[in-house]
Amino acid sequence: MVYWSGLAAVSLALPLAMAAQAEQTYFSQNFHHKKDALDHAHKLLRHNPLVDTHNDLPMHLAFVYDGKINDMNFTHFDWGHTDITRLHQGRVAGQFWSIYYDCEETETNQLLKAMESIDVVKRMVNLYPETFQIATNTKEFHHAWRHGKIASAMGIEGGQMIDSSMAALRQFYKLGVRYMTLTHNCHTPWAESCCDANPPPFEKGLGLTDFGKEIVLEMNRLGMMVDISHVAHATMHAVLNTTRAPVLFSHSSSNALCNIERNVPDSVLERLDETDGVVQINFYNPFVQCDPNKEATLFDVADHIEHIASVAGYHRVGLGADYNGIEVTPSGLEDVSKYPDLFAELIRRGWSDEHLIGLAGGNLLRVWKKVELVSEKIAKEKQLPSEARLGEPK
Ligand SMILES: *[C@@H]1O[C@H](CO)[C@@H](O)[C@H](O)[C@H]1NC(C)=O
Ligand SMILES: *[C@@H]1O[C@H](CO)[C@@H](O)[C@H](O)[C@H]1NC(C)=O
Ligand SMILES: [Zn+2]
Repeated sequence: MVYWSGLAAVSLALPLAMAAQAEQTYFSQNFHHKKDALDHAHKLLRHNPLVDTHNDLPMHLAFVYDGKINDMNFTHFDWGHTDITRLHQGRVAGQFWSIYYDCEETETNQLLKAMESIDVVKRMVNLYPETFQIATNTKEFHHAWRHGKIASAMGIEGGQMIDSSMAALRQFYKLGVRYMTLTHNCHTPWAESCCDANPPPFEKGLGLTDFGKEIVLEMNRLGMMVDISHVAHATMHAVLNTTRAPVLFSHSSSNALCNIERNVPDSVLERLDETDGVVQINFYNPFVQCDPNKEATLFDVADHIEHIASVAGYHRVGLGADYNGIEVTPSGLEDVSKYPDLFAELIRRGWSDEHLIGLAGGNLLRVWKKVELVSEKIAKEKQLPSEARLGEPK
């Protein structure tokens, strides 16, 4: 979820048929040898898992449809960017479903909204056991993938959802949540957001307070990935100074190509080696094509991927498209069925299979595994759960 405040816009149906028609013309004009590259992409993704780390379908199910999914037919939706047919067409092997609620709704019980979203993800998986399987670790991920199921994991989008409670953070882990985005577009009392016009309740530019650092270390102990999409650049640096485990950008693009705070600057890309982190590219039009007079396309997304690969390395880039969380999508990447077209373009640009396999999911799975190993190491050190509370001196 990127920009929207309020959920009203969510229910707008996409004119999918029109988009599909426009896109056919677009491809036939722009691709040479398109079919060969696309065949290659499908073959590669049949044998190697594609994992996307950010999809907002749960927000629609829990809040637009009020959690009433029993009579829905997930095979085909005439709204949004995601349904079972299109997930299979896109060769999606694993999906982190986003647990999100608008942080600006400060009167709302964010914990309850998170419970409703987690519940709807689990009920969706239970309704379609032949399609989905919950994955709470890399071993379960591979098990699901080997059995032809879409491995389903969860991330909470926005530190506001734990209400500054270590206890809530730990219980989210128990429920299966495997990453937390430290902020959405609002500051939390302990971390600075990219996109909040209000001053943070601490010195601006600090990034993280001492309590915020404790949260990061508690996430390391639990084995929950620390997601630094949506945070201020200062917070990215503060997290890199603090964490013992690799960092994740679950859905972010390049700041060098599109100079907005929400995107990742090269100065941070250059530090990803310090923790073995990964940036999962967001497809949202204004993040990948910053000239408002130009249409965003698949080629812009490919450019962002190539920029991040050129600065940080091919092993530091993956996919976090933000489908169902963005109200517009680039032409050529209209919905989850289109990932293979992106791979075809990168094949045309000369990407090796090894690098494509990393982009598809290998890089993210390496980071997830390493986060698990750091957690095991901390367990051997017998570090106890944090009892820190917001506002208490250290
Ligand atoms: C769901 O829709 C598909 C076609 O989109 C259809 O084949 C299937 O029978 C439907 N399932 C149910 C339970 O209605
Ligand atoms: C990160 O650490 C470096 C080196 O110690 C320091 O110069 C920088 O200010 C720190 N950044 C933040 C945001 O904490
Ligand atoms: Zn988001």
